[in-house]
Amino acid sequence: MYSRIAGTGRCLPDNIVTNADLEKRVDTTDEWIRTRTGIRRRHIVDGETTGDLCEGAARAAMEAAGIGPEDVGLIVVGTTTPDQVFPNMGCLLQARLDIHGCPAFSIEAACTGFIYALSMADQFVRDGKAKYALVVGGETLSNIVDWSDRGTCVLFGDGAGAVVLEASEEAGILSTHLHADGAYKDLLYFPSGVGSGFDRLREGKDFVQMRGNEVFKVAVNTLGGIVEETLEANKMTKSDLDWLIPHQANIRIINAIARKLNMPMERVILTIEDHGNTSTASVPMALDVAVRDGKIQRGDVMLLEAFGGGFTWGSALVRY
Ligand code: ACO
Repeated sequence: MYSRIAGTGRCLPDNIVTNADLEKRVDTTDEWIRTRTGIRRRHIVDGETTGDLCEGAARAAMEAAGIGPEDVGLIVVGTTTPDQVFPNMGCLLQARLDIHGCPAFSIEAACTGFIYALSMADQFVRDGKAKYALVVGGETLSNIVDWSDRGTCVLFGDGAGAVVLEASEEAGILSTHLHADGAYKDLLYFPSGVGSGFDRLREGKDFVQMRGNEVFKVAVNTLGGIVEETLEANKMTKSDLDWLIPHQANIRIINAIARKLNMPMERVILTIEDHGNTSTASVPMALDVAVRDGKIQRGDVMLLEAFGGGFTWGSALVRY
């Protein structure tokens, strides 16, 4: 028994913030943001929560898969910006979708959250524990970014993406590969939590902290390694890949990985220009864009990869 992707969906807030808008808020330029990151605009919540976006993406994926709430046997949500500490985002989404009784949980692995969630759900389906699994990555990082810090606020956007996995005799998810190294915890983090009493957060003084240059280098190295690992595990070569669906953090990181794979950029799904870095939502949203645009066809082989705070990194090789 395997799992395959039966449907995809995404949800973005309507509100769009362009680079020109940011020029009015911080000392930056459209040219700097475009050339250093590849971003032109991003969607930013205006009252919506992560739960609202996850619900929109989940409903779209379930509709695409042709299933109803009664069919869902597992819910896994990747997010680091949940609506509440608990119940977990999986349970909150379960209630919104009127689904009852199946296991529901969330995974906090920063930008790699969706890949982690996909790997967990794949294993449930392969074990025969769920016929259909709802896998979501949703984030509203804009709520924890310092909008006066030009080094971080230009990078992030909000959104959610989802897939429905279904049990199948044909292999869809060919393999998943997950890694983490907590030694890099200080490269990218958000300090507030229950242990800190949320004091600085309450005072509006706590934000995402990032050592951008170092994140860049670790990302290129770890992703380079995981690409090799994934191909080797499947006895495939670079030429067997039809598509690369990378985490949309920085166009220069994406270019470096595409070069490593000898992948022409027409074969790389890019949404960074319009979405910015939406953390764990970026890979499932890019997948949904490419599926709905008709680029990715049934039978195509795609490599999904992501990295994020933790440090976490992961990949999935998928036959669509
Ligand atoms: N506008 C104009 N100038 C800026 C801006 C800005 N928005 N931000 C920084 N600068 C300046 C800096 O102050 C610096 O000026 P200085 O030379 O006078 O000191 C100069 O630009 C160069 O800064 P660098 O940080 O060296 O720029 P770099 O080329 O490394 O680009 C960036 C910065 C875009 C953040 C890059 O390092 C990057 O993308 N890193 C990866 C970050 C990432 O992927 N984060 C997400 C991880 S996923 C997750 O878990 C959420």
